[in-house]
Amino acid sequence: MSPTTPVVGIIMGSQSDWKAMKNAADTLEKLGIAHESKVMSAHRTPARLEAYATSARTRGLKVIIAGAGMAAALPGSAAALTALPVLGVPMEGQMMGGLDAMLAMTQMPPGVPVGTLGLGKAGAINAALLAAAIVALSDEKAAAALDKFRAEQTAAVPENPQD
Ligand code: RP5
Repeated sequence: MSPTTPVVGIIMGSQSDWKAMKNAADTLEKLGIAHESKVMSAHRTPARLEAYATSARTRGLKVIIAGAGMAAALPGSAAALTALPVLGVPMEGQMMGGLDAMLAMTQMPPGVPVGTLGLGKAGAINAALLAAAIVALSDEKAAAALDKFRAEQTAAVPENPQD
């Protein structure tokens, strides 16, 4: 496979999720980890989801990040179709601030796990960092990029608060 073959797949249930999910793509971009972003819905485009998830491993993906709001079936449905690790990012919504989506992702029945992150932007960034850590298990370049990111983050924290 080419070095630019995506190893992380970012999927989202709607175009409206991109504002938050773009943070996952930006984070992977900074780390130099090849990724792709696609819109697909468990409810509205089930055939697109099935084709994507069932071909994910053979196309070279190592992990899938799935963002969705409301009933938020996308991560669980993706996890049902592939044994690759699936990281869910609940979208903040009008109902309960996104708690509905968070519960839908965390409350998977035993046997089909979704690793659920926090809501919205923070969850999307952390999903990307966790995906990077998974990729880094078998990729020294990704491991070095992640170590560099962590060191820079630590160095950027001032010891004394500033005005
Ligand atoms: C979910 O419904 C999507 O993931 C999105 O968060 C939510 C609303 O979608 P739109 O009506 O904005 O397309 O399936």
